[in-house]
Amino acid sequence: MGFGMLGVFLGLLLEVSTHGPHAVARTSWKRQDLHLMEFSEPGIFNYSTLLLIEERDALYVGAREAIFELSKKNVTVRNNKAQWTVAETPVRMCLLKGKSKEKDCLNYIRVLQVLDDERLYVCGTHAFQPQCDYLSLSDFTLAGRAEDGRGKCSFDPSQSFTTVMVDGELYSGTAYNFLGSEPIISRYSPSQPLLRTEYSTSWLNEPSFVFADVIGEGENTADGEDDKIYYFFTEVSVEYEFFGKLLIPRVARVCKGDRGGQRTLQKKWTSFLKAKLVCSMPEINFVFNVVQDVFVLKAADPKETVVYAVFTSQWSNVGLSAVCAYNMTTIEDVFSKGKYMQKATVDYSHTKWVRYNGITPTPRPGACINNHMRQQSISSSLHLPDKTLQFVKDHPLLEDPVLPIGSRPRLVTKEVNYTQIVVERVRALDKKIYDVIFTGTEKGVLHKSVMFEGEAYIVEEIQLLKTSEPIKNLLLSSQTRSLYAGSDSGVVQSPTAFCHKYPSCMECVLARDPYCAWDPQTPACVNIFSTPSKRHGRLIQSLQGDADTCPPVVSGRSLQDYQRVTVKLGSSAELPCLLHSNLAQVVWKCNGSLVTEASRFHLIGENGLLIYSVAPEDQGHYECWSLEWVPAARKNFTHLLAGYVLTLDLPPRPPFPAGHGATTLGGPETSSTRVTEGNGKTERAPLTSAVAPPSFTATVLLTSPPQTDSSLTPSPSSTVRFPPRHHLPSSSNAPRPENRAPAAEYLQYNNSTALLFLFLLFFLLFLAALAYNCYMQYLPAPCLRLRAFLLGNHKSTHQPEYRACEAGLMEQPAAEKLDLTAHPTQNGSQVPQNPLRALRDTGYETEPECGNGRVPSHSFGDESPSQEKPFDVECTSQPIQYADADEPYC
Ligand SMILES: *[C@@H]1O[C@H](CO)[C@@H](O)[C@H](O)[C@H]1NC(C)=O
Ligand SMILES: *[C@@H]1O[C@H](CO)[C@@H](O)[C@H](O)[C@H]1NC(C)=O
Ligand SMILES: *[C@@H]1O[C@H](CO)[C@@H](O)[C@H](O)[C@H]1NC(C)=O
Ligand SMILES: *[C@@H]1O[C@H](CO)[C@@H](O)[C@H](O)[C@H]1NC(C)=O
Ligand SMILES: *[C@@H]1O[C@H](CO)[C@@H](O)[C@H](O)[C@H]1NC(C)=O
Repeated sequence: MGFGMLGVFLGLLLEVSTHGPHAVARTSWKRQDLHLMEFSEPGIFNYSTLLLIEERDALYVGAREAIFELSKKNVTVRNNKAQWTVAETPVRMCLLKGKSKEKDCLNYIRVLQVLDDERLYVCGTHAFQPQCDYLSLSDFTLAGRAEDGRGKCSFDPSQSFTTVMVDGELYSGTAYNFLGSEPIISRYSPSQPLLRTEYSTSWLNEPSFVFADVIGEGENTADGEDDKIYYFFTEVSVEYEFFGKLLIPRVARVCKGDRGGQRTLQKKWTSFLKAKLVCSMPEINFVFNVVQDVFVLKAADPKETVVYAVFTSQWSNVGLSAVCAYNMTTIEDVFSKGKYMQKATVDYSHTKWVRYNGITPTPRPGACINNHMRQQSISSSLHLPDKTLQFVKDHPLLEDPVLPIGSRPRLVTKEVNYTQIVVERVRALDKKIYDVIFTGTEKGVLHKSVMFEGEAYIVEEIQLLKTSEPIKNLLLSSQTRSLYAGSDSGVVQSPTAFCHKYPSCMECVLARDPYCAWDPQTPACVNIFSTPSKRHGRLIQSLQGDADTCPPVVSGRSLQDYQRVTVKLGSSAELPCLLHSNLAQVVWKCNGSLVTEASRFHLIGENGLLIYSVAPEDQGHYECWSLEWVPAARKNFTHLLAGYVLTLDLPPRPPFPAGHGATTLGGPETSSTRVTEGNGKTERAPLTSAVAPPSFTATVLLTSPPQTDSSLTPSPSSTVRFPPRHHLPSSSNAPRPENRAPAAEYLQYNNSTALLFLFLLFFLLFLAALAYNCYMQYLPAPCLRLRAFLLGNHKSTHQPEYRACEAGLMEQPAAEKLDLTAHPTQNGSQVPQNPLRALRDTGYETEPECGNGRVPSHSFGDESPSQEKPFDVECTSQPIQYADADEPYC
């Protein structure tokens, strides 16, 4: 078992880091080529809260100690500014508590919500004493009401939290205390008392909130149910045991009409339920277990509403991000029909979560009030029976997981950490609907991906931010066709498409961007949404990327258009070539036949051709072609990128004897002629860093025979082709070589430490498994003798139930981990993985009574990971933990 697991997990990691499926952006746009609009003010940082009010044409920005109103059409235009600093006393208190003056004891504006037509509700961390206020939109001043912001805004500016305003009530998920140790999901309402979560690890266990939104039930629901507020967060798992903390992504839900219970759950949610979100690659058993951001794509038909979420892995050294999409109906079904989980005690110091198989009280615990309940004269949560309330208080966790659409991620990318996501649903010229996913990364890059036949491809990546810093917030405006990205250093506005950047029909169609189409009359690549629809008929677009729909290129470029390159005999020539697509490969042709990478021809930089010590027979016309395989169209497309005519400018001189070249290094003979691309652009950036270093020059010169030796010219029949660039994992995804290098190195380093760490981890696991098998008498004599020596004889007389309890203690981590990774799609029906698991999966009623069977302190239980469990629960009773819940808050 130990060896098997070791193998499985090491194999898994290697597989993920080398062969795992992942997408590569087709086009990379550099920041300097795009002229993005941006806003920042000197001395002001952390522009991380954004609010768009389309009707007012305004983008509101919450930064550190300041709130801005910017024009949504052009964020460089600042219409208003309000300052909100902290008075001296709170700052002094903050400093007394050991916080830093420059970083913590300031007012980070973190809540900006629309209250009504005239006011925004604004909250800030206010030097670790959160406060809220009202911002008048007419004169952009704060009312100075200084409401207590605890539970509405985090104390700590770096702590994650979320809020959403629904009908004038503020729903939030944040920490309620200074230390950030008391998480709550709460509702502040002007007319009702505060409603909140129980302070218990089974309700919330060190959560990191990322998103909350309301999902309306629509006007005409049959059962008259309430609107629901969904929260998305990552928390520390209670149901899986693991070495250390295993993080689990969750979706939780409360009902808008919840008013708390009458006796049980007074002023607490009676409708709080949560479930596990699954985002995994089943084919290689890889689980993404940290949800970073969520976007709810609401459709007119609630059935078509899709929840998009970006995930990374807790073991982020693997360097993968994923986008999973969830059907809103699936989420609702889990909450309305899913099985509950139950905490059961296996030993004095040990609890585990199992499926609850008993009878659930009616009305269903955690359900919103509906017409059926109203008929039973339960018109509000205050009338719910205590049995239902007590049950939901003890069983907030559902067993059934929420599975993504298609049971797999829509997009997996390597070497990026996604931080933000927004999605726009667009109708392309083929009248079909496409979901366009915009994801922001930790390095200030934006990826734009399109959902096509259930999978996404990345159209482009854009370096949005000046520096390599995380995108902290991302908003989309369909009206202005813009994205707004907030970061620590400023706000950037970017168009949702860069159609005009594609110079030809081929490029425009191969981009497969639903926003872009080729207009053969202008001719230009245009944005279909800014083109009058009467002209749509003549536009050329193919989401398959079938560039054969383009009009044939008019005879290509004639030889006269080729750039002339004249070099001296024996010197080298560099012919640059700029490839626009990261998915294409370059093919060089000379006199119409393929150039082979022989001694004197070298691919340099990304795609340029270096011809070394040019000889008379090297003269001719050279062409750089792009060759792109488009899987969706099942075709290769080629087009000419650059053409050169290479000639020698001197009559041939007697060749240098071999070896002489090394001493004339750097002289006129070895000087290289660098050429820029012919069509007006002078793009040489990728090549400047790629000129062959001196040592390389010397070697080649020494080993190359006299240049007149024609036997060395490449034979035209040979068809060596330059390898495609993107099969190399380390160069797959970064925008440009100059940006790429540091990240790639960092990743390499991380991978090896990750492997080492994992190896150690699994070695320990293996040892534990060995010890366990020995202990369970599965292994032969030497081990049994050791066992007898260690434990003495009394152990062998244990009751079978007791053995099972012990087994639960020992076997848990491995089995549960396997369960999580190998069977993420397992739904409801339990498939026992091994006999021991089956033994424990019978539900809590049949859980062996183990109150009398404490594991002796010298047993293997001492090394077992259960020691790290945060629980300390008695075997016979199963209360939830109330960690100083009733202590007065201060
Ligand atoms: C605020 O911005 C500064 C400057 O970029 C950064 O160092 C700091 O970490 C940010 N703080 C938070 C809480 O985001
Ligand atoms: C979600 O599931 C429902 C019911 O299975 C189905 O009718 C609907 O089309 C699905 N929606 C999406 C977006 O897949
Ligand atoms: C992603 O985040 C992890 C953890 O913060 C870090 O170790 C890793 O280098 C990041 N990867 C990239 C490509 O930014
Ligand atoms: C290309 O053609 C020219 C003239 O037809 C010839 O001199 C030259 O050797 C050819 N070059 C190559 C590399 O075949
Ligand atoms: C497309 O080009 C690749 C690379 O040259 C080649 O291996 C493949 O066979 C081509 N496919 C078709 C259908 O022409």
